[in-house]
Amino acid sequence: MTTRLNSHFAGRHFLQIPGPTNVPDRVLRAIDQPTIDHRGPEFAVLGLDILDRIRTVFQTTQPVVIYAASGTGAWEAALANTLSPGDRVLMAETGHFAMLWKRLAERLGLVPELLPGDWRRGADPEAIHATLADDRAHAIKAVCIVHNETSTGATSRIAEIRKAIDRASHPALYMVDTISSLASIDYRHDEWGVDVTVAGSQKGLMLPPGLSFNAVSAKALAASRQAKLPRSYWAWDEILEANRKGYWPSTPATNLLYGLQAALDQLLDEGLPNVFARHDRHAEATRRAVRGWNLEILCANPAEYSSSLTAVMMPPGHDADAFRSVVLQHLDMSLGTGLSKLAGKVFRIGHLGDFNDLMLMGTLSGVEIGLGLANVPHRRGGVQVALDYLVAARAAPKAIDRAA
Ligand SMILES: Cc1ncc(COP(=O)(O)O)c(C=O)c1O
Repeated sequence: MTTRLNSHFAGRHFLQIPGPTNVPDRVLRAIDQPTIDHRGPEFAVLGLDILDRIRTVFQTTQPVVIYAASGTGAWEAALANTLSPGDRVLMAETGHFAMLWKRLAERLGLVPELLPGDWRRGADPEAIHATLADDRAHAIKAVCIVHNETSTGATSRIAEIRKAIDRASHPALYMVDTISSLASIDYRHDEWGVDVTVAGSQKGLMLPPGLSFNAVSAKALAASRQAKLPRSYWAWDEILEANRKGYWPSTPATNLLYGLQAALDQLLDEGLPNVFARHDRHAEATRRAVRGWNLEILCANPAEYSSSLTAVMMPPGHDADAFRSVVLQHLDMSLGTGLSKLAGKVFRIGHLGDFNDLMLMGTLSGVEIGLGLANVPHRRGGVQVALDYLVAARAAPKAIDRAA
């Protein structure tokens, strides 16, 4: 198979994995500036601007901690800041990333209780309610849920889970991983009563990998003052103290922060409701194409379909990675691989971030061409079904679309 490092392909690569996503030119240009003194006055202006405006994206008025780290770091930070060794945490087996977060919790000395799942749907609010209602001693200290399971393309109903926790009158902290949903799928840190929201830079925020986030409620901050897990780099208190003047206690990722400033300009200029509507439209068009090809969507509950990505099941006897290789080799497009127990069984189409109708049509065309080249049994014409939907959606838009 050709490796891209030594090959030349005309035109732009199609990076249609569900993150990292395509980085807009204005963000790339913003990153491409001289690195400045992170203790100087110019930096503080940047720091204060970002720390203020990033809160809009989380739909919160509370502080957002920014780390130079991938999303895994922010997972660890959420737990290490708020919990103590031996604490029980309730987690839901929604897919590969939920299982990784559970493993991380175990490694930190926490005791996860796992609600089993089939990797085709989100966390079950009723099961969460039942478990918390049974926990009369309040031994469970946190409920940790992945909003958008990037391995399956199924979302969890975060507001309903909040209600389930409240119905059980349970005081557990509520932590939500929005690594592949923030700035793509509607998410409301304050309104939905989330205590720690975990996020990363490389998906809906349209940045390269390297930044991650904890949005923190007053309840989580109070818990952090009692929590006994060891923490140093991740400790919120020192960072929040330095952030008050626009700085960080250690060296921040200066150039990625320039990029974040430009990404915030772009997102807030488009308007979050329009960003969400755009993602919903592209996800619906993709699902229609998949059905048009007579292939099956992995997510089994339409109420939990992801607007960031669609995981597509391969017909029996066909390997998803062989198909992905054909697409990369012939069409210079990267599609997402199946992770852990889904390896070879699904491929994932990322339709999040800096993405528009024509990029979507190019992506879906690439999939349909690839299905033909790889001799995967399918019905032709899914691309046309998606196109018809986009035309109809534009004729009756749900939100004002600036590109219309
Ligand atoms: C939902 C989710 N959680 C956590 C992670 C881990 O983040 P990272 O790979 O940036 O450390 C990912 C990565 O794709 C993810 O999609």
